[in-house]
Amino acid sequence: MMEVLRTIDGMRRWNRQSTGTIGLVPTMGALHEGHLSLVRASVKKADRTVVSVFVNPLQFGANEDLSAYPRTFEQDLALLKAAGADAVFYPSVEEMYPRGESLTRVSVGTMGQVLCGRTRPIHFEGVATVVIKLLNIVAPDYAFFGEKDWQQLAVIRRMVDDLNVPVTVVGVPTVRETSGLALSSRNQYLSSEERGLAANLSRALRLGLSRYEAGERSRDAIRDAIRRELQEHGLEPEYVELVDPDTLDTAPQVLDRPAVAALAVRIGRARLIDNLMLGQN
Ligand code: PAJ
Repeated sequence: MMEVLRTIDGMRRWNRQSTGTIGLVPTMGALHEGHLSLVRASVKKADRTVVSVFVNPLQFGANEDLSAYPRTFEQDLALLKAAGADAVFYPSVEEMYPRGESLTRVSVGTMGQVLCGRTRPIHFEGVATVVIKLLNIVAPDYAFFGEKDWQQLAVIRRMVDDLNVPVTVVGVPTVRETSGLALSSRNQYLSSEERGLAANLSRALRLGLSRYEAGERSRDAIRDAIRRELQEHGLEPEYVELVDPDTLDTAPQVLDRPAVAALAVRIGRARLIDNLMLGQN
């Protein structure tokens, strides 16, 4: 039986009654195969799997898509049941932020300011704050995050390390369509024509990877090749960057160790991100 808990007290009670290890999969709902691969990884690793579904207002900027964000809870429940989740934590905004926005915030310093943080300055503080709350509420042994959101994964790993949170963070590989497009709840914003264009994000990253695998070690040469590939398809990226996988610092000009190539592109109403590891991390 999969239980739906709408309150923090209810979630904690369920926890106390459950036996063995707990895996937590934090999500904002509108679930797709990417989310479900996290759920399956948790079902495999932990004795019990809790999935949280909460569209966190704190991580959306004033001009972002908070009100438009897709909400498909009934469908999410059916998918989670089929994937083998044991409990769904589905709190209201008031339950999570009873005094309005949280006064206490988790700041992640420069890691929240680079890459997506340049155009979304409060985003990662909002993510880190809700994730520490979820970790405190569910107290899981494992927490699962997708590599699709590499910066988020790196920020959470760092927060858990800095704050000695007793949880093991597990990164899960990106699930893609056959076109290469990384699955995202925001792909729903794309028309079929835009979806075709969006396949160029992963195509450009793979081009960068093929240069790297052919022996190219100039950071800027690889970055520029990725950028040009996007531009040739009429896409002007918000950023294309090669960074250290852990610190997110700009990779050295001569790539002497693995780097993550990361990019963001706006297509129509959607802001899409993708990344690919260059080298074995
Ligand atoms: P959301 O965008 O719903 O994503 C939930 C989790 O699913 C994240 O860890 C994300 O990286 C992962 N994910 C999304 N698409 C994926 C894909 N194609 N392949 C693999 N994993 C994928 O990320 C968030 O929610 C929020 O910021 C959250 C962490 C829940 C905090 O509010």
